[in-house]
Parts: sequence; C-alpha cells; structure tokens
Amino acid sequence: MAFLRLADVDVRGKRVFIRADLNVPQDDGGAITDDSRIRASVPGIRDALARGAAVMVTSHLGRPKEGVWTAGDSLAPVAERLAQLLGRPVPLVRDWVDGGPWHAGLKSGEVVLLENCRVNKGEKADDDALASKMAKLCDVYVNDAFGTAHRAEATTHGIAKHAPVACAGPLMAAELEALGKALAKPARPLVAIVGGSKVSTKLTVLKALAAKVDALIVGGGIANTFILAAHGHVGKSLAEPDLVPAAQAILDEFPGKVPIPVDAVCAKEFAASAKPTLKAIENLEPDDMILDVGPTSVAALKMIIDKAATIVWNGPIGVFEFDAFAAGTKALAEAIAASSAFSIAGGGDTVAAIHKFGIADKVSYISTAGGAFLEFLEGKTLPAVAVLESRASG
Ligand code: 3PG
Ligand code: MG
Repeated sequence: MAFLRLADVDVRGKRVFIRADLNVPQDDGGAITDDSRIRASVPGIRDALARGAAVMVTSHLGRPKEGVWTAGDSLAPVAERLAQLLGRPVPLVRDWVDGGPWHAGLKSGEVVLLENCRVNKGEKADDDALASKMAKLCDVYVNDAFGTAHRAEATTHGIAKHAPVACAGPLMAAELEALGKALAKPARPLVAIVGGSKVSTKLTVLKALAAKVDALIVGGGIANTFILAAHGHVGKSLAEPDLVPAAQAILDEFPGKVPIPVDAVCAKEFAASAKPTLKAIENLEPDDMILDVGPTSVAALKMIIDKAATIVWNGPIGVFEFDAFAAGTKALAEAIAASSAFSIAGGGDTVAAIHKFGIADKVSYISTAGGAFLEFLEGKTLPAVAVLESRASG
C-alpha cells in the first residue's frame, strides 16, 4: 500500500495533528474497562514528541449528538490514562476547531488531547468547511485510527485532503500490514473463523471469505443458520430463517469449505445458570437452544486449525461468557494458540475471548478494530486509507 508514513516525515518543530481511535469501552461510571486502544496509540504519539513535534491528538468516543456537549461524551478519562502511559501531562482542550490560545501556546515536545471530535458539527458528514478549518491547525496530519478507517468523517477523511502533509501512523501501518499478510498473499491453508449472532450483519464478509479461504468455520448464531440450512432444524436456537437461502447458496457454491456442526451443547433457556445438555444435532428438540458446539464438532474444527498456515478470526463460537457454554470457543482459542500459523484476530467479543482464555501472546496479531477489520475482510476500500494513498500518489 502506497502512503506516506509518520516515520518518514521530519516533524521537528512542526504542529502534528494525530487522529487516533481512543474509542474505549467504559462502565456505567465512565471508568475505562479496556485501554488497549489507548496503549496501541502511544507509540505514534511518543515518536512525534521525541522528534520535537508539537502534538495534538483527537478521537471520537461513542456516538454523541453533534453540536451538543455532555460530560459523558468527554475524553477526560482517556486524557488521564494517556497521561499515565506517556508519563507526562495531557491537557484536554474543548472548542478547539478554531484554534485560539491553546494552539498559539503549544510548544515542541508538548501534547494536548482535543475533545471528542464527534461533538463538532459536520464531523460525521465529512463536512469540507470543518475539515479545512481543522487542517489549518497543523503542518502534518497523521491518521493512526485504523479502528475508524471505514468511516469517511472530517477527522478521518476530509482533513487529509487539506493538510499540508498527510500520513499514516505506526498503528495504522501495522494493522494494514498484518491484515494484508493474512489476506493478500496468505500462506495456505487459509482458515477463517467467523462467529457472532447474525448472518445478516456478516453476509458480505462470509461471501467474500468463502471465495478466498480454504476453510470457513462458522460459529454462534451464524452457525445456527447454516445448521438450519443443512439439517432443517435448530430447535429454538437463535437463527435467521430468512437467511437460510443465503447460507445454502454459500454451501452450494463452496462445497466442503464450511464445516457444519454435528453436535451441540444445548439448554432450555439463555442463562449462565442454564443446565447444559450435549446432543447430536439430529436429536435437538423444539425447545432446545444451541449455546455451544459439541466435542465431536470441536475435534473436527481443531483438525482444520491444526493444518492451517494462516488463521483469521472474528467472532466467538459459543456463548463463552457463560462458563458452561465456553468450551467450544476455548478449544478453538487454544488450538489457535498452539498453532504455528500466522494468526490475526479482531472484534470486541473475539478480543474479550482471547483475554478470557489467556492466549493474547500466542496470537500473531490482535487488531484494535471491529467494524474496520470486517470491512477489510470484505475487501472493501477503507476511505481513511484511500485518501492517504491518493495524497501519496500526488
Ligand atoms: C469502533 O469502535 O468500531 C470504532 O471506534 C468506530 O466506531 P463507530 O462504529 O461508532 O464509527
Ligand atoms: Mg463500533
């Protein structure tokens, strides 16, 4: 991919605007429950500071209403965590679009955090007037927000057209490199694992991957719809009958690529306390809910993973949040951990599973992205990347 990188730009004495993805999960009290995205954004910020730039960082947090300020949308908890990680103060600036004293006083080697960029009117619509105002704040624009690369917004797209220099930060570059390695010229067999609740939200990903991979392992509610297509029943499991023809079309077009579970751990209700019962799919009763794959199916999936040279993983296999229904996801996670394949994982639930089963250091690359990761897998153009490429090609 041809774009300029922060590492190749001389930033000494320059004003550097970094768009990061610091959209972290928070509990009801606002406390950060997973700071991975903040930690992943630190190297780019440190690099610019170390080389003598005056650094402004911004990010969105959640999906606030534009033009309306509420304390809950504030990046304050992020500023605090970032300051701890950088070991230096990180002042937080509100109403920053038009510059002002904070901007005039920003010195080389200093960093400020610019409040939630999605509070600015025009951010989501990629408003050109907003984007060009923001571009005037800097000499160098850096996009290090891979997690938001699928959004064409003023801080991820428009600003890159107007800034004097526009480049990718180290996280953006690393994410694209890892995903490219997994999908552009993968070592084979290439195995994709796509779990999650609905075929409808991942149909384009499933189709794109089915054409590319050697095996496509489906999990969760997605698997249930495939089971419904293959076996004709799933009891009262979460499934999408409307999507059965779409699942069937994938099975027909790519025979043998999508393994269908033959057994499942079921329950009569969706609850952590529900009594788990192992059943062959053919013996499911109308009031059975599939909450995990069974051991015979797991053994077949493990054989596929054991042979893989590249593994791409998005979405859990079973309801791993409930211990009684976590065995399938755990076994797959452990198979990926034990494998010498190049493995890449992305998506909030997937990363939560990786941490729950303690295999983070045994996955080759863990993406900070959810939606952007999926769109990359679909083969879609990511607008935030495309604009950096267009700047590099003149
Ligand atoms: C994410 O959490 O997936 C990214 O930060 C993008 O957020 P969005 O879906 O609100 O655009
Ligand atoms: Mg999201």
